[in-house]
Amino acid sequence: MTNKNKVSKRIIEQFLFPSVTLNRTKLQKTVTGKTIVITGASYGIGEQLALLFSTYNVKLILIARTAEKLNAIADIVKENGSLCNIIVADFYQETETERAIKELFTLTDTIDIFISNAGKSIMRSLENSLTRYHDFTRTNSLNYLAPVNLILATTPLIKATKGQIINISAINVLLLPAPKWAAYQASKTAFDQWFRCNLTEWKIMKIQAKTIYLPLVNTKMIAPNEKYKNFPAMQPEQAAFRIAKLIYSSKSYDKPWWLLFLQTSSFFGKYIWEKISFLYLKKQNEKSI
Ligand SMILES: NC(=O)c1ccc[n+]([C@@H]2O[C@H](COP(=O)([O-])OP(=O)(O)OC[C@H]3O[C@@H](n4cnc5c(N)ncnc54)[C@H](OP(=O)(O)O)[C@@H]3O)[C@@H](O)[C@H]2O)c1
Repeated sequence: MTNKNKVSKRIIEQFLFPSVTLNRTKLQKTVTGKTIVITGASYGIGEQLALLFSTYNVKLILIARTAEKLNAIADIVKENGSLCNIIVADFYQETETERAIKELFTLTDTIDIFISNAGKSIMRSLENSLTRYHDFTRTNSLNYLAPVNLILATTPLIKATKGQIINISAINVLLLPAPKWAAYQASKTAFDQWFRCNLTEWKIMKIQAKTIYLPLVNTKMIAPNEKYKNFPAMQPEQAAFRIAKLIYSSKSYDKPWWLLFLQTSSFFGKYIWEKISFLYLKKQNEKSI
């Protein structure tokens, strides 16, 4: 990418993802002394959240597969004055999720904030998915069933503290379905629907359930896709700031300011979107013949 392109990309990013100022006093009041569980805390947004909270004297429980990375983050969290435990688990396997839940209960009998963040995206055409049913079982396990299992199990603890459950979601679930995104969009949307179905019942339990709908974020999740290197994207630190702000605010969701325009065009422009997707894919297919 040329320097000129880099500068334009930065300007567009500042416009689309304006910087967030944290009210540190409010954040401190909300999280200090609290037990916070973060899934998918070894990289990206989850890692940034763990590091952000670590300076507020919290008790963190971090879950993911990569033990070395979780241990390295736990060391920093402790250096910053907070407590930290890790649970190593692979949410692709239901037995592993069940084991993680048991381990969680041995580590704590109180949870104030549960952040459901672990996730994986896949962008693959239908044609390239024909022999890859496992893409669907894996994304379904990780993005939908594991968080349902974890939240069902921990709801009584979160109810006892009148705590919070945070759903780290994607803007895609609020927009029209996009070609090649079936595995990711179906699993994220399933979880989002499950989450929204429970909102009233959680409210009655005095649990605050909140969702952040994120745009493209510059993490390892998007790294396999070459095209995204030049796309404007939010930085993971900025995503963590937005999530922290959502936690201390009374809002129940956060989404980019411009999403409303896309949602409106999704509603009125379904035909145009389908036509554009069709022509784009057709052109791509012709190129690859
Ligand atoms: N990046 C984006 O553009 C974007 C956009 C919208 C929403 N989001 C959402 O943001 C959340 C965080 O994503 P990210 O961008 O920070 O991605 P990331 O950097 O790839 O981090 C994903 C986290 O999930 C964990 N994870 C992945 N597979 C797992 C498994 N099988 N079992 C347990 N943990 C697993 C990873 O740890 P291990 O590999 O160590 O297990 C890692 O800690 C996801 O829910 C994602 O859907 C991301």
